[in-house]
Amino acid sequence: MNEALYNLIRLHYRTLQGYVSAGMESGKDPKNIYMNANENPYELPDLKGLNRYPEPQPPKLLEAYASLYKVKPGHIVMTRGADEAIVILTKLFCEPHRDSILIMPPTFGMYTADAKAMPAHVLEIPLIKNDKGFTMDVDNVIATAKNPENAVKMVFVCSPNNPTGNSFAREQIIELCKKLEGTAIVIVDETYIEFAEQESMTKDMKNLPNMIVLRTLSKSYALAGIRMGCLLSGDEEFIALVRAKCLDAYPLPRESIASALHIMDDKTLKTAHNNRKRLLKERDRIRKAFEESKLVNKVYPSDANFLLIDMEFARDFVAHCAKEHIILRDFSDKKLTEGCIRISPSLPEHNDLLLKLLKSFEQMVQKSSAA
Ligand SMILES: Cc1ncc(COP(=O)(O)O)c(C=O)c1O
Repeated sequence: MNEALYNLIRLHYRTLQGYVSAGMESGKDPKNIYMNANENPYELPDLKGLNRYPEPQPPKLLEAYASLYKVKPGHIVMTRGADEAIVILTKLFCEPHRDSILIMPPTFGMYTADAKAMPAHVLEIPLIKNDKGFTMDVDNVIATAKNPENAVKMVFVCSPNNPTGNSFAREQIIELCKKLEGTAIVIVDETYIEFAEQESMTKDMKNLPNMIVLRTLSKSYALAGIRMGCLLSGDEEFIALVRAKCLDAYPLPRESIASALHIMDDKTLKTAHNNRKRLLKERDRIRKAFEESKLVNKVYPSDANFLLIDMEFARDFVAHCAKEHIILRDFSDKKLTEGCIRISPSLPEHNDLLLKLLKSFEQMVQKSSAA
């Protein structure tokens, strides 16, 4: 395994013997009668196969992911959503009470939540907000991560970033990885990458041993309900270690495996691709309508399936929409997103309703300021 990874793994994990489940010991050969896993042999009607534990990392699904993400099966650990990958990596690299993660807020809240559960320290180098949007304070991130007193083991780069919507330039991520090689792991969370024009960082995995990429089927493949994601690394020995030592005994539910396999045919993938295009069109329609509103200060550029909008009376607008059962996310009380809401476009008829609510809210504000 590359030293850039191995030396940062907690000592405890280097010596730990992973759990070997009955399924891992014996495999799944249809010729065999399995009496080794305390399973119940009686299938219930219409629930075929669900009496048996699933394969931990089914090879057929690994191959399907490999072809989807243009990597090798040996580069993938399949997890329950990108969420579980974040937990696994935090446990693997951060020594409780000692090590730190570095995040660039505003960003996805689970990095902090998982670090605090260890507990690991959380260092924040906020994004820089300017007229165009949000950028990374690269030099400050590098200097902070390299300072041994900070014990930074992991730097999270969410690209496209939730909730700001922007991606970070490939060159910038490469610079970060190269300058932190031997010091910290760079986790590139590409949960929303399929909505962006920018390509995935996976093609650079080979040359960046300290980079780990997260992907998911939740967003652009519309499968949030099955909880399937993965972590990717160019180092097959590292992947083997994570599979052997960090996964639960049977992490992926059988029905999730089946649904994930179901989408991996050309026809369904094409449907998902077309839906993605429809969603982006709706996103841009919403953008235009909000940009025309006098209440809106700024709609931030977005490479994702959501918009961050800075508007007057943001909190009241969220409440106004909630009364009509349109639920938005309020970021107005958070640092650097003051006055902002986040909208994830829905079906066209729902988006029509949202835009109607924007109009009625404008009228309400106008009336109350005239009174
Ligand atoms: C940036 C980011 N990473 C990870 C996740 C979790 O994704 P998953 O559904 O694959 O667990 C989310 C979910 O919203 C997210 O916004």
